[in-house]
Amino acid sequence: MPTILAIESSCDETSASVCRDGAILSNHIANQSVHEQYGGVVPELASRAHMQHIVPVVDLALKKAGVELSALDAIAFTQAPGLIGSLLVGAQFAKSLALALDKPLIAVHHMQAHVLANLIGEQKPDFPFLCLTVSGGHTQIVQANSPTELVVLGETIDDAAGEAFDKSAKLLGLPYPGGPLIDKYAKEGNPNRFRFAEPQMEGLNFSFSGLKTSVLYFLQKETAAHPGFVEEHLPDICASLQQTIIRILLKKFRKAAKETGIRDLCIAGGVSANSGLRSAFEAMGKEEGWRTFIPAFQYCTDNAAMIAITAYHKLLAGATDDLSASATARCEWH
Ligand code: KG4
Ligand code: ZN
Repeated sequence: MPTILAIESSCDETSASVCRDGAILSNHIANQSVHEQYGGVVPELASRAHMQHIVPVVDLALKKAGVELSALDAIAFTQAPGLIGSLLVGAQFAKSLALALDKPLIAVHHMQAHVLANLIGEQKPDFPFLCLTVSGGHTQIVQANSPTELVVLGETIDDAAGEAFDKSAKLLGLPYPGGPLIDKYAKEGNPNRFRFAEPQMEGLNFSFSGLKTSVLYFLQKETAAHPGFVEEHLPDICASLQQTIIRILLKKFRKAAKETGIRDLCIAGGVSANSGLRSAFEAMGKEEGWRTFIPAFQYCTDNAAMIAITAYHKLLAGATDDLSASATARCEWH
């Protein structure tokens, strides 16, 4: 019955979670509002906010779980990828705690953790399964053969899906992060009202930078003719944009499922919180006879519970680390 404390600090959320025998007992997340006024995450401010949040966040996670420090069997942290200053706060904290308690340390890859968020809860996919991981920094189609054997089948060659949402939202004058706001306005809009460019990419890779340019030119053209265009048509623009991003994502995911013959499909990462993507993904599964899995909302965006569940599976596989493990901004899989 291993009890694990996990820490996530790769970007602008400070999070801690306690898991016992694969069950999440707590998952506390502190968001950083300081970045809103800058239209994006400011790395130096993120590191400072992590320093302020880390002790109270860990304390709350332990209290909510009803677990004492002495009951912990291992300490896990996000090793990569992310903002190096942010990662280092979590890594140093986890290492100090592991040293003080004389417990094993488990370094976790953030992208592996997004995929394995699908192993939290009652309804779990069977191995092998496919996962479309869509976050602010990454867009990947991953084949999971086991918790520790993940193969990237395709990924973006430029912007991530989350960036496509956030950068388009910025062009529309919406605050950062714009993804959730596009989701909100899209609910009242007509997705077939406007058309944006869809890239023609070979294989299972994605490209989103052309979409951003297409949105920019479209808005320049329309607002030149009619200055109040964005305000008047915001729901229709958001719905059309969201539909385009979803179509690009699911076209490749469908192709990956057909090519591999794998019938258990998952989505993960911040953009999997998008209501349009969630329902289109489920509809695709029904149409093709595939089983679809989506993490609970709080496990889609960055959180420590996904680090905890990954650490649990690494611990079962005997994959612990020593104190020489450290944070790295790089993204390669272990
Ligand atoms: O996984 P995540 O929390 O952080 C990274 O690892 O990047 O993903 C953050 C991304 C942001 O781009 C944000 O705009 C997007 O997820 N996001 C959404 C929604 N909620 C979060 N995008 C579209 N619709 C949403 N509901
Ligand atoms: Zn993430």
